[in-house]
Amino acid sequence: MLVLGIETSCDETAAAVVRDGRTILSSIISSQIRLHRPYGGVVPELASREHLEKIEQVVSTALSEASISLEEVDAIAVTQGPGLVGALLVGVSYAKALSFGLNIPLIGVNHIEGHVFSVVFDNPKIVFPTLALIVSGGHTNIFFVPESGRYRLVSRTRDDAAGEAFDKVAKMLGLGYPGGPIIERIAQDGDAKAVRFTKAKISDGRPDLSFSGLKTAVAKYMKENAIDPVGGGHATQELCDLAASFQASVVDALVSTLERLALELTPRSLIVAGGVACNLKLQDESRKMADSLGIPVYFPSKHLSTDNAAMIAAAGYFHLSSGRVSDENITADVTLRLQNDGITEPTGAGKRPRYRV
Ligand code: KG4
Ligand code: ZN
Repeated sequence: MLVLGIETSCDETAAAVVRDGRTILSSIISSQIRLHRPYGGVVPELASREHLEKIEQVVSTALSEASISLEEVDAIAVTQGPGLVGALLVGVSYAKALSFGLNIPLIGVNHIEGHVFSVVFDNPKIVFPTLALIVSGGHTNIFFVPESGRYRLVSRTRDDAAGEAFDKVAKMLGLGYPGGPIIERIAQDGDAKAVRFTKAKISDGRPDLSFSGLKTAVAKYMKENAIDPVGGGHATQELCDLAASFQASVVDALVSTLERLALELTPRSLIVAGGVACNLKLQDESRKMADSLGIPVYFPSKHLSTDNAAMIAAAGYFHLSSGRVSDENITADVTLRLQNDGITEPTGAGKRPRYRV
């Protein structure tokens, strides 16, 4: 069964062909990073326009790299939400037209569920129940997953996503965009114990996360110690120390929350996925924690950590195999949420756009 995956929820136009939900025949990603870099974040209008320009080419490259024709595609999976509305609409409209023209099933996929499925390619078969930390520029959630396709949200960030905090702090330090990889790089030359940041306290005691206080603490520390952002040249030792301490603090918050929930819910495995899962410090600490609990932890390989369409095709294949397909009324849904039973429904209120510039 060949599924064509399409992803346009944020700043990557991506298409992939996946066989039987596990074998990637092609995965094409056209990144808009250079387009948005001057603004230090994703500009929604520019993103949608770029998706429109690129989608045709990206899909046809995915098909040719997989050495298949459009007629050989059995189903199309597309990111339905959450994400930027204009960006999502490009992928959903394109996928709808294609599935209608070819008369094949269309499956709307929740982007966050896509990240969960990103680990199916390069890992042993997932043992359930699992606890999945999805940590990216737009999301920071932990789901208890009793079996494939069923999700219980057990932790979330109360404010910024972890990747968003990396991006914002990088901007403050005068580093480029996206911030995660650059902070990780300069942190290698820094002392993670140089600056002690206090742990965010969640007043109701729930195992939730919060990163906006940490971002403010970094700004305050820079001001009080008269630390200047990087001005074109190399990062100073002070900035490397600050980056390392910030990174350690984010990783500690994520891993200690995951551990607290793992002790409570006793899953048989862990998943750490999403753009921030590229971070080697996060991988190391998660692995140490999982080892101490005696359970495996699965990460996506690097090219599947950030947004891609192979993970969307894999999630789509799962739903197709379970007999769940979308009808012709499917439309982009900015606030799509992953519900307990795996059926996605709009929530309406409370969700902020994923990036603000
Ligand atoms: O999953 P993704 O491509 O997009 C969203 O769905 O948001 O994640 C992008 C995010 C950005 O915030 C980026 O700074 C972060 O992932 N990121 C990292 C690293 N690589 C990417 N954060 C920390 N360390 C990294 N190595
Ligand atoms: Zn993502």
